Amino acid sequence: MYSSIANSCFILSAILLTLLAYQSKAQLSATFYATTCPNASSIVRSVIQQALQSDVRIGASLIRLHFHDCFVNGCDASILLDNSANIQSEKDAAPNTNSTRGFNVVDNIKTALENSCPGIVSCADILALAAEASVSLQGGPSWSVLLGRRDSLTANQAGANSSIPSPFEGLSNITSKFSAVGLNTNDLVALSGAHTFGRAQCRLFSNRLYNFSGTGNPDPTLNSSYLTTLRQICPQSGSGFNVANLDPTTPDTFDSNYFTNLQNNQGLLQSDQELFSTAGAPTISIVNTFSGNQTAFFQSFAQSMINMGNISPLTGSSGEIRSDCKKVNGS
Ligand code: HEM
Ligand SMILES: *[C@@H]1O[C@H](CO)[C@@H](O)[C@H](O)[C@H]1NC(C)=O
Ligand SMILES: *[C@@H]1O[C@H](CO)[C@@H](O)[C@H](O)[C@H]1NC(C)=O
Ligand SMILES: *[C@@H]1O[C@H](CO)[C@@H](O)[C@H](O)[C@H]1NC(C)=O
Ligand SMILES: *[C@@H]1O[C@H](CO)[C@@H](O)[C@H](O)[C@H]1NC(C)=O
Ligand SMILES: *[C@@H]1O[C@H](CO)[C@@H](O)[C@H](O)[C@H]1NC(C)=O
Ligand SMILES: *[C@@H]1O[C@H](CO)[C@@H](O)[C@H](O)[C@H]1NC(C)=O
Ligand SMILES: *[C@@H]1O[C@H](CO)[C@@H](O)[C@H](O)[C@H]1NC(C)=O
Repeated sequence: MYSSIANSCFILSAILLTLLAYQSKAQLSATFYATTCPNASSIVRSVIQQALQSDVRIGASLIRLHFHDCFVNGCDASILLDNSANIQSEKDAAPNTNSTRGFNVVDNIKTALENSCPGIVSCADILALAAEASVSLQGGPSWSVLLGRRDSLTANQAGANSSIPSPFEGLSNITSKFSAVGLNTNDLVALSGAHTFGRAQCRLFSNRLYNFSGTGNPDPTLNSSYLTTLRQICPQSGSGFNVANLDPTTPDTFDSNYFTNLQNNQGLLQSDQELFSTAGAPTISIVNTFSGNQTAFFQSFAQSMINMGNISPLTGSSGEIRSDCKKVNGS
């Protein structure tokens, strides 16, 4: 009797757990807005195209927002929430403060979408769509963006401090942070290829130029002519807010040159060069493949963007569709 009740309980729990596991898996779909906002993707694209006219860096800034969103509580637009009584904004977290940009363009996209299809497209999906549009507009691959994410009611500033990789970290730490969100070494190398465009501030790599790890010398893995160039952009007593191109060869084009740079010891961030210069690392052969075969890079990049976009989305009736990406509805 007891055991048959226990058995039924066990079977019921097993069914429930299976259902839960199924629901917590990404339930995103490429056609999510096909009837409710068929033009969503082209609206996003046209606002970005406009913004690129006056800011060639904006696409890079936008894809980075999607990355910093997805690594903290999943792809739920938590990064877009401003400080309020209940919200400690992720914008003030160490990896984001004085660094993330593009929030005004996200707001312009939201306004355009609300004009066409009010209350339909989430801010989390805007970031995913903006990432794809930015890459394809600057010469990179296109892919079919999976949609249907909903927006969070909370932010996680502590999570942003601890979960987003730092440029000063070793490859094993960074690999752990990717693995913590279900991304593997191939994803790490492919997605790092986003550093084929955009800029980085001197304060995030100048330790490599003058006194690396307290040695009194530059990072030994840094190409010497590249070192000279970087020292001009980042004088020892200059502003840490000066910026250098992440890809010195083709700064505003999405291509595979990032990987060729690594082979030439021209990775800008320590975390970039480590992918190629860490002895025995499994990332080296992937860098070599992507450097020699842009098609292979583009295919992997598109797949890895989909993988990243699948990190713990809110779906169904969880969360909400924010009407203003900066705040929770009704607050
Ligand atoms: C692997 C670990 C990563 C580290 C340690 C890292 C670190 C950084 C740092 C320090 C900057 C410069 C920020 C500044 O100067 O304000 C930067 C910029 C950038 N990152 Fe990453 N990143 C990583 C992965 C990624 C990924 C996965 C993506 C996207 C898929 C990405 C896209 C970008 C872009 C496009 C920029 C330039 C942004 C701009 O110009 O506004 N990064 N990253
Ligand atoms: C979709 O949006 C684009 C860009 O805003 C516009 O050019 C196009 O006419 C729109 N198409 C429809 C069917 O609304
Ligand atoms: C951000 O930049 C401002 C102005 O340049 C500076 O005063 C402030 O200390 C910076 N904050 C951080 C955390 O770097
Ligand atoms: C996150 O880091 C920033 C900058 O270092 C710090 O000011 C803030 O207090 C941290 N937030 C949390 C919740 O740990
Ligand atoms: C790497 O991870 C270890 C263990 O979590 C930690 O103690 C260390 O501070 C991390 N290194 C950096 C540079 O963040
Ligand atoms: C380099 O940094 C170390 C540790 O911070 C310091 O002791 C040393 O004086 C610095 N060397 C130079 C040449 O600045
Ligand atoms: C330094 O970069 C140049 C390209 O600018 C390249 O020809 C050279 O081989 C690189 N040197 C090393 C040691 O990687
Ligand atoms: C480049 O990569 C693609 C995609 O993985 C592959 O089909 C193709 O055979 C590769 N080309 C060469 C020359 O290796």
